[in-house]
Order: sequence, then structure tokens, then C-alpha cells
Amino acid sequence: MKPLHRIALIAVAAIAAAVLGEWASRVIEPWMDRRADDSAQRRPLIGGPFELVDHTGRTVTERTYRGKVQLVFFGFTSCPDVCPTALSTMTDLLDRLGPDAASVQPILISVDPERDTPERLADYVQAFHPSLIALTGQEEAIVAAARAFGVYFKKAPSLIEGEYSVDHSATTFVLDRSGRFVSALDPHDTDEAALDKLRRAIATPAPTS
Ligand code: NI
Repeated sequence: MKPLHRIALIAVAAIAAAVLGEWASRVIEPWMDRRADDSAQRRPLIGGPFELVDHTGRTVTERTYRGKVQLVFFGFTSCPDVCPTALSTMTDLLDRLGPDAASVQPILISVDPERDTPERLADYVQAFHPSLIALTGQEEAIVAAARAFGVYFKKAPSLIEGEYSVDHSATTFVLDRSGRFVSALDPHDTDEAALDKLRRAIATPAPTS
């Protein structure tokens, strides 16, 4: 190979390496970072930021209840059967937990903000458990909270003239002390299975960071 050709070849190789390196740092690395972010964000699919008002009129967010295991249920006070049943089950579970119940915050988020004022919710929670907190808010705030939990709700016709009902998912979400979703209580769970899910969440320490 003539010296001139060799120099040209080395120059081409150097340029190619530089271009490749640049491409890697501009395209590949950010792409890999993005993938890492995605997988970090994929974990808390359930539970997310919300800002609502509790039944005493206080503004609360998803951070308000950190430090306690949260039981989150979406429903409404005019619900004839599903909500009272789920909330009674929740109350029974808390009673059966004994002293550990102090580490659990049961929360009802209304899917009927039009009728469920803080005053109405304050009356309603008394029928269930002294530690039950009920949240309501503007329609958009409720929609955002429901979306954060992947909960569906929709106004539906009622059998009562001039009234309406609300169709809604009836899952009870169990969040650990740092607000991460850990399990869901299923209406078909036995009492023991449900208690076991709660005890496991209670036993999970909050991260120290
Ligand atoms: Ni209901």
C-alpha cells in the first residue's frame, strides 16, 4: 500500500470511529437512559398524585397518608349495596387486625363529587370505622385520582325517579407505607387471605430514604 493510501485509510477510519462514537452518545445512550426511566416508572402503575378534600374539609394529597399502609376504595354514599358491603368488609378486617390496625389508613374516594360533599361524607364514614377517611373534590380532581388507580366510573340511570347511580370498579387497593401499590383486596378473598395481604403490607418497612 502506498503511504498516501495508508494515510487516507487511517483518516477515514478515524472519522468513522468519531462519527460512530458521536452517534452512540447522542442516540444510543439517551435511548438506554430512557428505557431505564421507563422501567422505573412502570412499577407504580397504580396509585399516583392526587389532590382532594377530606370529610373535614382539609386539602390532602397522596403524600398525606405516607407512613401508613393505605386501603383505598372508590365509591359513593348513595351506593345501595357494593360500597356498604366493601366498607363493612374493610371495617371487619381492621377489627380483626387488632392493634396493627393503627398502622392502616382506610380511605374512601368518592366517585360522586356532585352529591358527596365533605359534610355528607362526614356523616357516612361514622357508620363504618372511626379511622375511615372519605375524600371528594372537583370532578376533574376525582377523574385524575381514578385514572391514577386505573379505576373506572360512570354515571348510570337509577331505578329511583330523578336520581342517578354511578357504576364503578369495586377494588380495594393496598398501598404500602411509602404509597406503593402492593396488592388488591378482592371481594372473593377469604377473610384469612385478605388479612394476610394486610399483614404483609404492614410488615413491609417504609424505605429510609
Ligand atoms: Ni358502590
